[in-house]
Amino acid sequence: MIEIHIKAIKRGGVIMDNKRDQWGTKLGFILAAVGSAVGLGNIWRFPYLVYENGGGAFLVPYFFAIFTAGIPLLILEYGMGHKFKGSTPLAMERGNKKWEWLGWWPSITAFFILGYYSMILSWAMKYFTLSFSKGWGSDPNSFFYNDFLKLTDSPFQFGTVIWPVLIGIILVWGISWFICYKGVKGGIEKLNKVLLPTLVGIMIVIVVRGITLEGATLGLNKLFTPDWNKVMEPKVWIAAYGQVFYSLSLAMGIMMTYSSYLPKKTDINNSAFMTAFANCGFEFLCAIGVFAILGFMATSQGVGIDEVVSSGIGLAFIVFPKVFSVMGIWGTILGCLFFTCLVFAGLTSCVSLVEAVSSAIIDKTGWERKKVVSVIALAGVVMSSTFASGAGLYILDIMDNFINCYGIVVVGLLEAIVIGWIIKPATIRNHTNKTSYFRIGKWWDFTVKFITPTMLAIMLISNFVKEIKTPYGGYNIPELFAYGWSVIALGIIGALLASKSPWRNKAIEDFKEESEEEVV
Ligand code: PHE
Repeated sequence: MIEIHIKAIKRGGVIMDNKRDQWGTKLGFILAAVGSAVGLGNIWRFPYLVYENGGGAFLVPYFFAIFTAGIPLLILEYGMGHKFKGSTPLAMERGNKKWEWLGWWPSITAFFILGYYSMILSWAMKYFTLSFSKGWGSDPNSFFYNDFLKLTDSPFQFGTVIWPVLIGIILVWGISWFICYKGVKGGIEKLNKVLLPTLVGIMIVIVVRGITLEGATLGLNKLFTPDWNKVMEPKVWIAAYGQVFYSLSLAMGIMMTYSSYLPKKTDINNSAFMTAFANCGFEFLCAIGVFAILGFMATSQGVGIDEVVSSGIGLAFIVFPKVFSVMGIWGTILGCLFFTCLVFAGLTSCVSLVEAVSSAIIDKTGWERKKVVSVIALAGVVMSSTFASGAGLYILDIMDNFINCYGIVVVGLLEAIVIGWIIKPATIRNHTNKTSYFRIGKWWDFTVKFITPTMLAIMLISNFVKEIKTPYGGYNIPELFAYGWSVIALGIIGALLASKSPWRNKAIEDFKEESEEEVV
């Protein structure tokens, strides 16, 4: 009797844990996870990647990557966050004490990513306002680099403050601060419930208008005509894994954090499949829209697709403005819709990054969410403001490359190894299977232990060899050290230091008691 009473008190741990923010509904969680996954990568990276890597034939490595890395790692991250009820560092620590730092590294990287993500969103906001009057003029290329960004000659030449960019950055941080300040259910879930359906609706309008433009079929044929020879090239497979990884926001501390806010009885396996397929569907929608519009552009200029095709910043801020300029009223409408899509897709990803950082600090310090989010937003504005200079684009370019090629890949690799070989996949599999409608089998263990680490190791080695042969982007070594390698080093050192300081949040002790009880 007394024992039961003690257990009830210990169950106070559960009550404490219940203090952890929670999603209002499972749909809210899925929308937020998809909101993080759906981002600039879907809109401006995926379409070009398909085109460049074998068109329709790219779907083979792409789906292979989704089933052997995307979904298994989503299940893994959801499972870790859900089982250990913690932000990434806390979940890792609860999985195995020695590996807490591996949870801090992506959280610190997330903060750096926010530096340039907020800048790109700030550009997109500015371009939204410009689309009404096609304010980029007759030469969008020169407008973007010279008039708007006032790009200097090298990454160490900062030039002047670019006020419109700085104001945009402050706005983006302000919105992210407000959403995270409002909490998981009252802020993040609500934001995604509104923005995500709107985003899909707008993209459907763009696609429908796109495919009815003259020349659209030219673009779509180019996009989807399979080139089976490409499937034989290892670099195409590496590209597929890279895209799946980046696009699903894996190894970023986000998915573990988001799943830690789920109630006990939640179908994890099913959620992972839904997130992956929703993201994949949106990716295809974007590819169709982008290539239909590029087909129109090529036809109207009487040139081949290869002369207009582009990705990333070049596509969004140079090629597309050119297309909108030759289109008349539809150009204005499509311009506004396109930049709205960029802003919405980016904002939901930004918020997920801020939440990954905040949640880790809340768990560690026990400070109130409002205080933590405010401190992060202020620090974020200061850090991001270096980007609002004439060197901003260079810093973005170098940092993004290093974070993607090394930061995310190494974290993913270590994550798979630690969970595959130390924490053991069965620990997570048994947990997710307990609450899931369909159970995952031993194949999942095999994937986590062998396939994912092998692919990530190959990716890492190939990136490194490429870097040694020709340093990235024609930059010199001090520049690459200042903005690239240093970010990786800071991430690791910061992570090791953070993992040395004690957990001050009371709820952690209680959790341990609860899990011990469960074992009994
Ligand atoms: N998943 C996002 C995209 O596809 C990118 C992203 C990566 C966002 C990491 C947040 C963190 O664009």
